[in-house]
Amino acid sequence: MSLAVEELAGANLKLTLLDGGSYTACSHRWIAWPDLSNRTLPENMETLPSTNHFDASARTWDCDPVKRARALAVAEGIRSLVPITPHMHALEYGCGTGLLSFALQPHLGHISLVDSSAGMLAVLEEKITANRITNMHPRQLDLVTDPLPAERHDLIYTLMTCHHIKDTTGLLRNLHALLASPGYLCIADLDAEDGSFHGQGFDGHNGFDRGALAACAESVGFRDIRFTTVFRMIKGEGSDSTEYPIFLMVARK
Ligand SMILES: C[S@@+](CC[C@H](N)C(=O)[O-])C[C@H]1O[C@@H](n2cnc3c(N)ncnc32)[C@H](O)[C@@H]1O
Repeated sequence: MSLAVEELAGANLKLTLLDGGSYTACSHRWIAWPDLSNRTLPENMETLPSTNHFDASARTWDCDPVKRARALAVAEGIRSLVPITPHMHALEYGCGTGLLSFALQPHLGHISLVDSSAGMLAVLEEKITANRITNMHPRQLDLVTDPLPAERHDLIYTLMTCHHIKDTTGLLRNLHALLASPGYLCIADLDAEDGSFHGQGFDGHNGFDRGALAACAESVGFRDIRFTTVFRMIKGEGSDSTEYPIFLMVARK
């Protein structure tokens, strides 16, 4: 194995290999990242018009050091607020390429990872195989349109996905139903913003007001709802830059 580049980006240490792929420091160990940037998508997905823009961005998703740092910061936040044990069955909702679950994986028992994007799930499966991980189980699921699975989970976590789901109350009700009792829900997402994060054409939520989200969670049965700020994203340069805080909400069933 020949090492070509060592690159430091924020809290991220990344080693790039000459023959493709890279390793990233994650939760005190190295995670192998196959070089997916030139990979073709699964059969049909390159030629069919994409109904999901996440399919198109899946192959380069992990190249962004901010997304990696954000997932690590959220994982640290979850670990500091939830008494995680290796016996827990967890569910990540809107897992994308699994950045958050890779950081939590050594500390949990079984992890189900669900997402509606086949492209994201294809990248995730490659990473799981490359790292010979046995406790991460991806599955295509859209909680807005698909029936609820029968399994129940001790911990559900989700990062930057809830603002894409229009019916927040319906989503929280589904997540409450998918939790075992006792169980923990962790939502990491944007604080309320002016719409500049996604720009024109986005039809989801412009972040969340913490009080309104807590009231919504309480209305479907959650309790002991707490918030903390786990990360700050910056868009733009210098005086044109805007900061977008990311909250972590932890609630109990
Ligand atoms: C902004 S990305 C975040 C991905 C990942 N959590 C991360 O932080 O890197 C949002 C993810 O939610 C998924 N998603 C959006 N709507 C969904 C739905 N209705 N059901 C399941 N997943 C959904 C997308 O496919 C995408 O992977």
